[in-house]
Amino acid sequence: MTETAPATAATTQRGTLFVEDTPVTELSEFPGNQFVLRLHAPKIATHATAGSFIHLRCDETIPMRRPLSIMRADADEGWIEVLFKIVGEGLRSLAGKKAGDKLNCIGPIGKGFVVHGKRPRTVLIGGGVGIPPMIFLAEQMLRQGHEPHPLVLMGSELPFPFECSESHMASHWLDQEAPASIRDLEDLGILNRLASLSGFAGAYRGYVTDLAKHFLGSLTAAELAQTELFACGPTVMLQAVSSLARQYDLPCQVSLEEYMACAVGGCAGCAVRVETPNGPAMKRVCVDGPVFEASQVFANH
Ligand SMILES: Cc1cc2nc3c(=O)[nH]c(=O)nc-3n(C[C@H](O)[C@H](O)[C@H](O)COP(=O)(O)OP(=O)(O)OC[C@H]3O[C@@H](n4cnc5c(N)ncnc54)[C@H](O)[C@@H]3O)c2cc1C
Ligand code: FES
Repeated sequence: MTETAPATAATTQRGTLFVEDTPVTELSEFPGNQFVLRLHAPKIATHATAGSFIHLRCDETIPMRRPLSIMRADADEGWIEVLFKIVGEGLRSLAGKKAGDKLNCIGPIGKGFVVHGKRPRTVLIGGGVGIPPMIFLAEQMLRQGHEPHPLVLMGSELPFPFECSESHMASHWLDQEAPASIRDLEDLGILNRLASLSGFAGAYRGYVTDLAKHFLGSLTAAELAQTELFACGPTVMLQAVSSLARQYDLPCQVSLEEYMACAVGGCAGCAVRVETPNGPAMKRVCVDGPVFEASQVFANH
């Protein structure tokens, strides 16, 4: 069954936001209570962009929906994928679903990352459950023929919920051996590296932002002038990325996480303070974001 979108959403995202009853087609479990869920959601798949998310009813008995970033979308086959880590009852219930179960889903929601090409060198930084939008963005850039390919840096303290292997792509800017990479991205020719303080084999031992600092420190002034950062992850990581952007004078887009009730712009429950050219303003993370310029939301970092 497909319904029309709620009125509040229709006014902000007319014609691109859908409510679908989406059958589960696959649910894969990874260590650390992490799951990748694939849903048959043809309309959402067609309109998803990097940084957009769904608002999912995890179970009929749980009234509040949960926001989850879209990690992959295949418009031809009509599916979307999300990656989640169980926090509380909503996602625990979601983890118990089986192929064929139907979940009511609103999406794709939000203003995602904008790749404008003014700065062709791009560094994508993802932390924890902030990794999925970075995967989407990297693969989207590749499909759109963006050159050079992005560099993707990912940090996690849980085992990475992806097939990892030793990279064959050089990273001379690293001062320690850290060859682990996500196989799917490497196979696409996207250089990527992993960071963790948990001692995973082949991962850089440190914060993902330390890894980013190594890379940025290896660039010439001319290369830095061509570089832009994109990030999604915990707020403390986004603040550190924002500091790096300031230090190296780089534009930087960040995707924020906020508590969400309606997720379609109607309740203002997700509003954050943003610096605009006309002074401070309150913006709704769900429909005005979740992606913002780092300099506008972390003015002091
Ligand atoms: C735009 C957006 C995209 C997101 N994408 C992902 C994703 O791809 N994968 C993923 O695993 N998680 C993602 N999250 C976070 C996820 O929505 C929350 O962790 C989830 O709602 C928790 O649900 P739960 O039922 O497991 O726990 P609940 O019982 O609902 O919550 C347990 C605790 O989690 C925290 N929490 C709940 N909701 C949020 C929230 N919206 N933001 C921050 N903390 C929260 C609170 O401390 C709460 O007490 C995203 C959040 C947003 C806003
Ligand atoms: S969650 Fe209601 S306006 Fe954003």
